[in-house]
Amino acid sequence: MKTIYYFSGTGNSLWVAKQLKDKLQDTKLVSISKIVNNDKIEDKSSVIGFVFPIYMWNMPFIIRRFIEKLIVNKETYYFSVVTNAGSPGNTLNILNKMLKNKNVKLFSGFSITMPSNYIVFSGAEKDEKINKLTNMASKRISEIKNVILNRETSKLETSNLFINIIGSVVYKFSKSHVNKMDKNYWADDKCNGCKICEKICPVENIIMESDKPKWLGHCEQCMACIQYCPQESIQFGKKSGIKKRYQNPNIKISEMMK
Ligand SMILES: Cc1cc2nc3c(=O)[nH]c(=O)nc-3n(C[C@H](O)[C@H](O)[C@H](O)COP(=O)(O)O)c2cc1C
Ligand code: SF4
Ligand code: SF4
Repeated sequence: MKTIYYFSGTGNSLWVAKQLKDKLQDTKLVSISKIVNNDKIEDKSSVIGFVFPIYMWNMPFIIRRFIEKLIVNKETYYFSVVTNAGSPGNTLNILNKMLKNKNVKLFSGFSITMPSNYIVFSGAEKDEKINKLTNMASKRISEIKNVILNRETSKLETSNLFINIIGSVVYKFSKSHVNKMDKNYWADDKCNGCKICEKICPVENIIMESDKPKWLGHCEQCMACIQYCPQESIQFGKKSGIKKRYQNPNIKISEMMK
């Protein structure tokens, strides 16, 4: 039996995880946000993968909390796939270090370029680019599948040294602010109180107050609330009217709420 643990704000990582699950066969998918608050996370699968997005050249905080809780096995083949907009930083080496502290290691780690979901400044990519990146990702997933099935050890994929240094500096100085950056979010007059933002938030950081969302200050910056609001009501900072929203076109909103 194989297990893929995934975290996804806007569907890219879930789509990659689903493709891999189908190709690897005999594999179960587990949502990290559903189990991260369990007292104990134990899994004796012979192959375990971690699929998640890159935030600020590093891993989302929820991945850190999950890995810290994970009870590892010496015989398991561990791999990871990080989705990003082309700049993964040194994340896979950082993940490997966390696993090595538990006396296991990441045997292989892959970076897949997907459409950027960080749209607050620029809006989503054009449809042609989204399709092109999706096609390229499909081919890569087929190659990755072979490495995993053969239990190969491969070089962990990272950005270059310059980006890794810049990324680690930015991350160091920004990480204490990330949770509170949700103070920039607000819902404009288009909000109809449908509660989808409350339901889709993977870390229960939104509650409804007087039929409007209220953010609670432990945000992962996953973008799910902004991207999936059916009224495109959620805005960031003083700027209203964020441009085109992004959701992975091959993932249904119902799958994001599972
Ligand atoms: C807060 C935030 C920070 C991000 N930082 C990076 C980054 O440092 N490098 C990068 O290539 N992409 C970055 N991205 C883009 C995402 O990693 C990318 O779009 C990913 O595929 C989203 O996956 P998801 O749809 O599973 O959430 C960032 C996205 C967000 C929301
Ligand atoms: S998803 Fe959008 S419309 Fe629905 S409650 Fe949240 S902000 Fe309002
Ligand atoms: S509040 Fe929005 S951006 Fe923050 S974790 Fe929840 S869904 Fe993601």
